[in-house]
Amino acid sequence: MQTRTLTAGVEIPYVGLGTYLIPKDEVAQAVAGAIRVGYRHIDTAEGYGNESGVGDGIRRAIESGAVTRSEIFVTTKLWPGNAAWGQTPKSTEATVASLGQSLERLGLDYVDLYLIHAPYEPADRLAQWRGLVELREQGKARAIGVSNFAIQHIEALKAAGLPLPHANQIELHPWCQRRELVRYLDGNGITAIAYSSLVPLSTWRAAEGHDSAKTEQMQADSEKADSPFKAMADRYGVSEAQVLLRWAVQNGHPVIPKSTNPDRMRANADIFGFEIDEADMAAIAEMDRGDGVAWAEGDPMQVA
Ligand SMILES: NC(=O)c1ccc[n+]([C@@H]2O[C@H](COP(=O)([O-])OP(=O)(O)OC[C@H]3O[C@@H](n4cnc5c(N)ncnc54)[C@H](OP(=O)(O)O)[C@@H]3O)[C@@H](O)[C@H]2O)c1
Repeated sequence: MQTRTLTAGVEIPYVGLGTYLIPKDEVAQAVAGAIRVGYRHIDTAEGYGNESGVGDGIRRAIESGAVTRSEIFVTTKLWPGNAAWGQTPKSTEATVASLGQSLERLGLDYVDLYLIHAPYEPADRLAQWRGLVELREQGKARAIGVSNFAIQHIEALKAAGLPLPHANQIELHPWCQRRELVRYLDGNGITAIAYSSLVPLSTWRAAEGHDSAKTEQMQADSEKADSPFKAMADRYGVSEAQVLLRWAVQNGHPVIPKSTNPDRMRANADIFGFEIDEADMAAIAEMDRGDGVAWAEGDPMQVA
C-alpha cells in the first residue's frame, strides 16, 4: 500500500477503511476482512460508538498473523462536546482522559493519528488542542490533527503559539473541492485526508437511516446513467468509485472509503493500477459545487 509522510514523520497509507455507520456488531468482521485483503489503515471515532468492535477486528487480524500492530495505521477522534447540542465541551484534562478511554475500547497502547472531530467554541478548541499536543508528547498518539477545521480555526491555533496539526480530515470529492483550504493546508504542511469521497454515487449512504444533506439535484445527478464519472470509469476500465478515490489520491489526499461489502472493499483499495489523465483531471476541477453534505445536522466547518 502506498503511503504519504505526515509532517510528524509518520507514514499514512493512502487508502484506509472508514467505519462510520458500521454497527458495533459488524465492524470487527469488516476490519479484520479489510486487513486480510490488504488495508493497513483504519479510521474510527469516539463518536461512531464502534471503537471496541474496531479493536476486536484489529486484534483478530494480529492474532491471525496477518499483521503486527506497527504495520497498521489507526486513527480515532475526540468527540469535543458541542454546547449548542446540550453537551459539555471537553477541557484539556477531559481530552487527555478521553483518548485513554478510546485506547481502552480499542485495546491499543497508542493510536497513529488522533483528531479533534470538529471545531466548536474557540476557547474549547484551544484547550482540546493542548490536550492533543500533550498526548503526542506522552506517546499515546504518533501524530495529531483536526477534522472539519476551516482556515480560521487553524489560524487560531497558530496565533496561540501552538504547534500546527499534522492532518485535517475533511469532506473532499469532485462536488466539494475546497480549493482555498486545500492550498492553505498544503502550504502549511498539513495533510488533507479526504472523507465521503463517494458522495457523487447513487449508492452513497443509500441505506435506510443513513442521513446526509445531499440535495435532490445531487441525488438525481448521481443516478444518471450517463454521469461523467461513468464515462471516465469505462475509459479506464475501472468503477466510478475507483475514479473518485483515485482523483483524491492523485491530488495527494489519503482516502478512507467505508464499505461492508467485501468486493467493494477490495476494489476501493485497488486504485494504483491506473492514472486519471490531465484532461479528465481538468474536467473534474470544473465540477465543484461548494459545501459538503456529509453532516446532515450543522456543518461544523461553518462554525465561527
Ligand atoms: N471526520 C468527519 O467528520 C467524517 C465525516 C464523514 C465520514 N468520515 C469518515 O470517512 C469515512 C468515509 O466516508 P462516508 O462513510 O461518509 O462515505 P464513503 O466512504 O464516501 O461512502 C460510503 C458509501 O458508499 C457505498 N460504497 C462504498 N464503496 C462503494 C463502491 N465501490 N461502489 C458503490 N458504492 C460504494 C457504501 O455502501 P456499502 O457499505 O453498502 O458498500 C456507503 O453507503 C467514514 O466511514 C468515516 O470513517 C469522517
